[in-house]
Amino acid sequence: MAAPEGTTIVLKGGRVVDADGERTADVVIADGLVVGVGPDLSGERTLDAAGCIVAPGLVDLHSHLRQPGQEEAETIETGARAAALGGYTCILAMPNTIPAVDHAGIVREVLELGRAAPCDVLTAGAITVGRAGEQLAPLGEMAALGVRFFTDDGAGVADARLMRRAMEYAGGLHHAGRGVVLAQHCEDPVLASGGHMHEGEWSSKLGIPGQPAEAEELMVMRDLALARLTGTRVHFQHLSTAGSVAMVAAAKDAGLPVTCEVTTHHFTLTHASCTGYDPVFKVNPPLRTDADVVAVRQALANGSIDCIATDHAPHTQEAKEAAFDAAPPGMLGLETALALTLTELDLPVAEALALLSWRPAEVLGVEASHGGPIVPGRAANLTVVDLEERWIVDPSALASRSRNTPYAGRELAGRVRHTVLHGEPVVIDREAQR
Ligand code: DOR
Repeated sequence: MAAPEGTTIVLKGGRVVDADGERTADVVIADGLVVGVGPDLSGERTLDAAGCIVAPGLVDLHSHLRQPGQEEAETIETGARAAALGGYTCILAMPNTIPAVDHAGIVREVLELGRAAPCDVLTAGAITVGRAGEQLAPLGEMAALGVRFFTDDGAGVADARLMRRAMEYAGGLHHAGRGVVLAQHCEDPVLASGGHMHEGEWSSKLGIPGQPAEAEELMVMRDLALARLTGTRVHFQHLSTAGSVAMVAAAKDAGLPVTCEVTTHHFTLTHASCTGYDPVFKVNPPLRTDADVVAVRQALANGSIDCIATDHAPHTQEAKEAAFDAAPPGMLGLETALALTLTELDLPVAEALALLSWRPAEVLGVEASHGGPIVPGRAANLTVVDLEERWIVDPSALASRSRNTPYAGRELAGRVRHTVLHGEPVVIDREAQR
């Protein structure tokens, strides 16, 4: 239940971890804000954080919420509830809804639906009308409503001339004094066409047509060149190959204004998972090789990747029960991303949280209210995580309306105990409050 106005809440006995460092401290919240951080603090209501870390809420740059159009797979409400249970206080909805988020009317609809959600919901706008890759969408009218992120995700913009124009257009757009970000799902549709998994050893063995790593890498290469040409800030979504992360790292070293994300599945699963022809492992970009996973993990550890994103992509059981080549790509992510990051990556907690919280908050431009630091005066968007708690992923227990997690039965360490959104505890003791 929302704390009545004026009620003070204390997160008691935890270890505060944010971009400023770590300290043992209680955190007091009132009227949506952090009002005290220190030892032996009290409030009218106490949420136990003993043995836990208290961190800024997580921020996801890549959530498919399916509304409008595919509410049987997810809604903004169910996706946001899954996000809150996963420790997120802000998520960015992808525009590949039906119809696509490609003009002001749909932006308004999604933002309106998001207002009641147990997590801040922002939306990305499409770069092209209908995500069809032919004509630029009215980025300016969407930016005027606060859209800061544009992508045709689900597909890349194949036409280099159009992408160049999109970069030039986006480069001049501002909202509330900030520029917008042009983001790209890198996949050359011609080279990838007909491929349902990574092209390599396993696609040959299984007889499933593959898409080569080069289908992603060619578009990364091209868009780095276009970013150099136009000077526009570009964000590379869900990079999955060793070649892609190396190119983006080199471009950053050379001073290009680019950022990138990788997904949890691209550092925890490989194409070998497709052996059983189970479409739960079908995703775009596809699961890659061991060497790619190693390269992604190294890039996460050395700081050349900015963020971990979920690419939360719910699909109905019916859709995912189709044959591998007929099933849609995508897997759930919001409820498992934090635990996978903590369990699978050998990173200090603060570095894991940087990738999941404060860096994506900066990329998205929401750092004034998300991503910490946890100090008086800041918005109380927080998550409390028990690093020791071990749990087994049970698809039937997930809050998402869909069940397509590839991690069913996997034991993970680290679980969200509470999540606080603008001062309201939306998750208490692992239970969603609304
Ligand atoms: O696996 C994917 N699923 N990749 C995408 O790019 C789109 C997403 C979806 O919308 O299901």
